[in-house]
Amino acid sequence: MPHDIHPRPATARRSTNLSGTIRVPGDKSISHRALMFGGLAAGETRITGLLEGEDVLNTSKAMQAMGAKIEKIGAEWIIKGVGNGALLAPEAPLDFGNAGTGSRLTMGLVGVYDFESTFIGDTSLSKRPMGRILNPLRQMGVQVKSSEGDRLPVTLHGPETASPITYFVPMASAQVKSAVLLAGLNAPGITTVIEPVITRDHTEKMLAGFGADLSVETNRDGVRTIRLQGQGKLSGQIIDIPGDPSSTAFPLVAALIVPGSDITIRNVLMNPTRTGLILTLQEMGADIEILDRCLAGGDDVADLRVRSSALKGGVTVPAERAPSMIDEYPVLAVAAAFAEGATVMLGLEELRIKESDRLSAVTEGLKLNGVDCTEGRDSLTVWGRPDGKGLGGADDSEVRTHLDHRIAMSFLVMGLASEHPVRVDDSTMIATSFPEFFDLMTRLGATIEVEG
Ligand code: S3P
Repeated sequence: MPHDIHPRPATARRSTNLSGTIRVPGDKSISHRALMFGGLAAGETRITGLLEGEDVLNTSKAMQAMGAKIEKIGAEWIIKGVGNGALLAPEAPLDFGNAGTGSRLTMGLVGVYDFESTFIGDTSLSKRPMGRILNPLRQMGVQVKSSEGDRLPVTLHGPETASPITYFVPMASAQVKSAVLLAGLNAPGITTVIEPVITRDHTEKMLAGFGADLSVETNRDGVRTIRLQGQGKLSGQIIDIPGDPSSTAFPLVAALIVPGSDITIRNVLMNPTRTGLILTLQEMGADIEILDRCLAGGDDVADLRVRSSALKGGVTVPAERAPSMIDEYPVLAVAAAFAEGATVMLGLEELRIKESDRLSAVTEGLKLNGVDCTEGRDSLTVWGRPDGKGLGGADDSEVRTHLDHRIAMSFLVMGLASEHPVRVDDSTMIATSFPEFFDLMTRLGATIEVEG
């Protein structure tokens, strides 16, 4: 991705009656992993439904730079993998643009190899903490060169033979869990990862699907112990990726808050580690019907019919729910701005180190657009106005998005139900995760204009 390209502000205006049926693009977490594991596994992997966002395409380029053959034929992505343990040394730095997941998981995947790999990214990614990945890699014998505070650019050089470790993940992070497991693929013996609370489980499920020798044990307190036998064989798979629940969140909340709306979103991933937003919105009185639930590729998938709803506050979202909706808090805060009463969100410390400090970016954007809210160290309280009266920006006001796609999309959704328009300072980075956002929203009847 060209770094920090020219910004394109966008403005969303009050709309009515969103209607129609859409499909959102494939799940981003699964798309990254499908390319990585397909690129690593021996033989052919065929993927349909891949998210073709910039973040994921950067992972594809990185896997190609390490020896995988990847091409798109018709609707299918076809990968010829190198075989576990056989990645090639990349000749140039691997550029992950805006993508935390791509960069962090790939550091685990290739960092333990006995050659140099260098990781770079855009301004947002270069500010994000990488120590959470680099520390377990150091324990496995990886030499790390990085700028101050373990930020990108980072250069890794693995040992002759990596040491398998037992690692207790100190924060709720699927990226950290996954990076250690991926490093374990190339270490002899058993790598053990213990996570105190369940986070998205795509790595475990998909690695098992590719043939890894992996077990998961959950104790009575919900603590999960994942054991992976290293240096096993992985074989190519056929993967059909369902719609991303994190992208679904934007049209879904838009339909709830825009009066007279009735939309259907097809083929949405309903893995229970990803459905915290739907549960929370239902507690707030949202009319979300879950239709045609079925199992596809080992995961629950369903269609969602969403109708505009009188949302009620008075709900406290508990800290334990955060991992199952970690990327959805900005748009939940927007839903809360249209709910009667107060919505309280707890356990948000991880929001401060996403593509931006999302807790402060959301608070600042809400206040700018007339919403009463309070930011705590790791919490947010929003007092809503159901009819959107008085909400929205003054003529010259602009939400600062800090290169964060989810901040941009959340505030554009807010503008669809606010009395006054909501303008964001940039919308280019929406292409990292949801390139079809503008087309799909406009097709549903939303009024959003992009400048430039
Ligand atoms: C992801 C894990 C989460 C999430 C990110 C995708 C993944 O990050 O926010 O968008 O695919 O593993 P953390 O591991 O930092 O919570």
